[in-house]
Amino acid sequence: MDKQKIDILIATKAWQPEPWVEGLKDYEFVNKVHVWPTNADLSNVEALFVWKPLDAGVVEKLPNLKWVSSLGAGVDHLVGDEQIPTAILITRIVDPYLTRDMTNYCIMGVMLHQRSFFQHQANQQQKVWDRIAYQNLKVGVMGLGALGGHLAEHLVALGFEVSGFSRTQKQIAGVKCYAQQDFESFLSVPDVVVNLLPVTPQTENILNKETMLKMKQGAYLINVARGNHLVEEDLIKVLNSNHLSGALLDVFRQEPLPKKHPFWNHPKITLTPHVASVTTPASALKLLKANIERLINREQLQHVIDRNAGY
Ligand code: NDP
Ligand code: OXD
Repeated sequence: MDKQKIDILIATKAWQPEPWVEGLKDYEFVNKVHVWPTNADLSNVEALFVWKPLDAGVVEKLPNLKWVSSLGAGVDHLVGDEQIPTAILITRIVDPYLTRDMTNYCIMGVMLHQRSFFQHQANQQQKVWDRIAYQNLKVGVMGLGALGGHLAEHLVALGFEVSGFSRTQKQIAGVKCYAQQDFESFLSVPDVVVNLLPVTPQTENILNKETMLKMKQGAYLINVARGNHLVEEDLIKVLNSNHLSGALLDVFRQEPLPKKHPFWNHPKITLTPHVASVTTPASALKLLKANIERLINREQLQHVIDRNAGY
């Protein structure tokens, strides 16, 4: 085998593998692209690209594995997977299209709420002419990383009053930034709270009754990060008590959302099926290819996650 080329295994349970295979198979630094499940000899595979979940027993077939990449921004499906030894590098997708699409979705959610869009739609059905007042809103972004940081900047550009929350202190022009220890102060300010945190042991269940009751009376919640951030029955309680005015949800503890789940019919919940921002293979492949070349040249890979921090 040519020493300057590597074998890759694609394990995309939730997506079709074809765009990834097509995009990689003729790349000058790729020898062979395998697709899981396969009975082929995988002993030369050095890179594993995954969109979740990863079947049990895959990694033990890869004695030469050096690198695992998530095909999305989130890595919660990999960090918690004990079959991936700690010495293996894990990377994720940080991509301008993914970032743009997430920012657009969240701004859409903020504006639909700000302008009472769904009420206007219902009024149209009844031929009701009601010029509902609107005001400029304070928007709080939980997570100021690749996605949350970009969203916060764009909300500022649109004239919203923006605050943000992150583990370490951030400085973003026009954004009032709160670090981890100031979570309560952060929660009390916004009219709309957008969650863009990674899910980790520290952030799992972070949207619970106690924290949601610390949000402003009438605040609106947008959860586009992970279902495990939100205690779902607590959201129903705070909506039914009118403490929160509504929620836009894109992610859920169980996906697809079970047909019997109370979120489907809740009058204050709008939901979408995990489509806030979906990886564009053509764009993400540029990052994967750059990292393949770096792996071969023994250079530092881009967007390696910190396994201890969990993101
Ligand atoms: P990043 O890793 O770039 O950013 C994470 C941010 O969260 C950072 O600002 C980090 O702080 C902060 N953070 C982490 N832990 C804590 C904590 N304990 N307390 C406070 N802040 C914390 O992630 P991305 O922006 O790229 O992605 C965020 C998430 O969005 C993904 O993990 C994924 O779950 C979700 N996602 C959802 C999609 C969808 O379609 N619904 C699509 C893409 C992503 P610091 O800056 O100090 O490190
Ligand atoms: C991601 C996602 O993490 O789509 O990229 O949820």
